[in-house]
Amino acid sequence: MIEKTFTKDILKGLSATPKYLQSKYFYDTKGDLLFQRIMQSEEYYLTDADMEIFEEQSDTISNVLSEQSDYFDVVELGAGDATKSTHLLKALVRAKKDFNYYPIDISENIIEQLETEIPKRVPSVTVIGLAGEYLPMLEELNRMTSKKKVVLFLGSSIGNFESKSASLFLNALNNHLNKGDRLLIGFDLKKNPHQILAAYNDKEGITRDFNLNLLQRINDTANGDFDLDSFEHYPTYDPLTGTCKSYLISKIKQQVSVDGQPINFENNEPIYMEMSQKYSESDIEQLARDAGFETEHLFYDSNKWYCNALWKKI
Ligand SMILES: C[S@@+](CC[C@H](N)C(=O)[O-])C[C@H]1O[C@@H](n2cnc3c(N)ncnc32)[C@H](O)[C@@H]1O
Repeated sequence: MIEKTFTKDILKGLSATPKYLQSKYFYDTKGDLLFQRIMQSEEYYLTDADMEIFEEQSDTISNVLSEQSDYFDVVELGAGDATKSTHLLKALVRAKKDFNYYPIDISENIIEQLETEIPKRVPSVTVIGLAGEYLPMLEELNRMTSKKKVVLFLGSSIGNFESKSASLFLNALNNHLNKGDRLLIGFDLKKNPHQILAAYNDKEGITRDFNLNLLQRINDTANGDFDLDSFEHYPTYDPLTGTCKSYLISKIKQQVSVDGQPINFENNEPIYMEMSQKYSESDIEQLARDAGFETEHLFYDSNKWYCNALWKKI
């Protein structure tokens, strides 16, 4: 079933003008590992900045969360390896909170790993993983429990949505929550353009491999015959809009087959792979207001490169 939707989405994107692929498909077993290596790379400042907030301010975040309500569960959208959220889970345990942790991730592999790993890291927490897309899994969770929620959406994953889709997504997310539920959401802030671009163009070429791995995934699971060497990774950053975009560029005129269908590429034709939006404080406030949230607290790293905003559904 997942393979069928995957092939359908891939063919839709590769038949469009301009061609595109959905970045949620980066995350197969190899993609998960490559993303973890990106997070450890020298240039990818986002993880260190975000991690510093969780390492140093988790007890404060836990206190702020507890001021408003005693009983809540923690839900994490796109949990990944949950390294950052583990700090917060530990702080909540230190504060003697009784809660379940529900990681949601499109990668089944990630969910299986978290269900074994998190109980080792935070023994007193019950972990119930949900493998699938953010909102359908949140719906499933709402059928399982009506307890108050604190939803984590970290790692600037909201930045992967086009600006209109980000607002639509946050509105839809708001509709899946109850009044008083909270959302802790991560934003990468606008900063020096060189620093931003380097984060998506690391010297070791891990981000290049991460992008090319999606072509490999298409070869492996959608009967594709991409020659990975004939595509080049090309990231861009526009300081006017705060938008980082990455492309794979066909180095030659060529024909590729996916699931028996021919896909023609011109020389230098791009496939649009991913966007990563950067935000100002007023962009963040606007997003909150447009989606029916009120800002409760903003948590910054010491360089003010990154911000985790705590919003409340009003
Ligand atoms: C950029 S990583 C962030 C991981 C983690 N939150 C962090 O901050 O380190 C994005 C994660 O979201 C998951 N993901 C991407 N698109 C998704 C979707 N539409 N539904 C559910 N999970 C998704 C990926 O599998 C991946 O683990």
